[in-house]
Amino acid sequence: MNEIVKTAIIGAGRWGQVMIAAWQKNPNVSIEAVCDLNGEQARAVADKHNIPRSFSDINEMFRTADIDAVGIATPDFAHRDPVVISLEHGKHVLVQKPMATNVADCQAMVKAQESSGAHLMVDFQHRWGIGYREARVAVSQESFGNPVHGRIRMSNKQSVPLEMLSWSGQSNVLWFIGTHTLDLLRYILGSDPVKVFAASESNILRAKGPDTEDFFQSMIQFDNGAWIQMENSWVLPAGGSSTNETDMIIYGANESVEVKQSPTDLVVKSTEIGTEVPDGARADITARHVSINHFIDCIREGVAPSVTGYDGLMNTATLVAIEKSAKTGQPVLIEEMLS
Ligand SMILES: NC(=O)c1ccc[n+]([C@@H]2O[C@H](COP(=O)([O-])OP(=O)(O)OC[C@H]3O[C@@H](n4cnc5c(N)ncnc54)[C@H](O)[C@@H]3O)[C@@H](O)[C@H]2O)c1
Repeated sequence: MNEIVKTAIIGAGRWGQVMIAAWQKNPNVSIEAVCDLNGEQARAVADKHNIPRSFSDINEMFRTADIDAVGIATPDFAHRDPVVISLEHGKHVLVQKPMATNVADCQAMVKAQESSGAHLMVDFQHRWGIGYREARVAVSQESFGNPVHGRIRMSNKQSVPLEMLSWSGQSNVLWFIGTHTLDLLRYILGSDPVKVFAASESNILRAKGPDTEDFFQSMIQFDNGAWIQMENSWVLPAGGSSTNETDMIIYGANESVEVKQSPTDLVVKSTEIGTEVPDGARADITARHVSINHFIDCIREGVAPSVTGYDGLMNTATLVAIEKSAKTGQPVLIEEMLS
């Protein structure tokens, strides 16, 4: 398909409008409609961005508007129905991360994708960040040696759960940003998680309103033997330098690679002979538009997106295992979540 891809946005909140911004700059996309359960919100967002039609019902939109593909940005726990309905109508789907907050929802989406033959991509946009791409290449080199251990962190200021997200009490920091760090680990290590051991506390945010965890500290063992510590917090101080703080270091048998996204935006590689900071290897968070447009390129070129339903399913299964481990205080095997 080398024509213009006709799209619609389902879920017209903050991230729905990020997808609108990305697609309005893409000459190969025409946004035909906006759909939101809240019809007034759909109409207001359509008017604001000069999009011709708005709907509050997905089935009605597909009956009356000519659409090839949708971008879905409903809240974390409300992805399954819009995804499955869209695939049943034969539309290509880009769904925001996390794919879902339970394994059954992911399995239903994968099944719907297999029956429809349309594309299903989960928007794990940090894979397109230049720093993390560099890290993946570094880890894949023979000189790096087997990945052994490391840590990754992505955390938000308290304003994210307290002010930005109206539904933070129905989600948590794992689903909102742990999903990104976990996907980066799978992408960079090229390996699936097999076992987790985790802890969390719910004091600060619960006292201020939303019934959600303050943080998760997770130890994740991968199939290649590496153990990585993953930290995700929603209680960073309001006065911090960045809303979203991220960094990562992976140690191999011989070398290490570090991505310091905030505040320095650098990739640092250490080898057996020294440390280097490659020119231009900056960890670019604006990769958000790149992933959204990768989905369009795949539709036009007739190739599968590089992030699949399987990636979303493994991500959700691991996060469910982390939640279970934090509740029980016991290690949890990922395969138990998939059976
Ligand atoms: N890729 C990223 O880095 C990134 C960043 C932020 C948010 N997100 C994800 O985007 C999604 C949306 O987040 P947000 O911050 O835009 O939320 P939001 O609350 O601003 O918007 C969600 C919208 O979805 C609508 N909605 C709810 N259920 C619906 C349904 N069944 N059908 C149609 N519309 C429905 C709501 O009325 C609301 O307008 C979440 O899954 C979130 O995690 C991704």
